[in-house]
Amino acid sequence: MLAIIWHSRTGASRAMAIAISEGAGQASHLVPAAEAMPAIMLGMQGFIFVCPENLGTMSGMMKEMFDRCYYPLLGRLEGRPYATAISAGSDGSGAQAQVDRIATGWRLKRVAPPLVVCLDAQTPQQILAEKTVSRSDLDACCELGMSFAEGLALGIF
Ligand SMILES: Cc1cc2nc3c(=O)[nH]c(=O)nc-3n(C[C@H](O)[C@H](O)[C@H](O)COP(=O)(O)O)c2cc1C
Repeated sequence: MLAIIWHSRTGASRAMAIAISEGAGQASHLVPAAEAMPAIMLGMQGFIFVCPENLGTMSGMMKEMFDRCYYPLLGRLEGRPYATAISAGSDGSGAQAQVDRIATGWRLKRVAPPLVVCLDAQTPQQILAEKTVSRSDLDACCELGMSFAEGLALGIF
């Protein structure tokens, strides 16, 4: 089972997580970051982390998930595959790097290139507005979910 662990403040990452789960199909489980507990994660074969970049890092709720789960799971997930999908206004690299550092601590194995969707929100009004994600970006998310689930099913990771 693939866990798609997500957090979203204004809707973009939620839409991306749903598109990933549509691509991955029944072999995936959407888990809000607030509900991701060590016991749930231990039962999962792979992980896709989906969240926005906020103030140059992953969103606080996603970080809280890692803070809660990191030590209970340290040494217990080694070698499991992971990928990321980050939504951002114009960057995304800070959130990306921070998730990668934590995943490296868990000895997870990245199996898909980083997916960063920039929505070009610049003004406070644009940043705070509910987001929509373009069809092509949702297709990229869907493709990520599909290839990840296929890799798990075929045992190639
Ligand atoms: C508090 C806050 C901080 C943000 N900081 C950044 C940032 O550092 N870099 C960036 O590219 N976008 C930043 N953004 C823009 C969001 O990453 C972007 O709007 C994203 O698509 C939101 O995803 P969501 O709709 O899933 O919450 C910020 C947005 C908020 C609300």
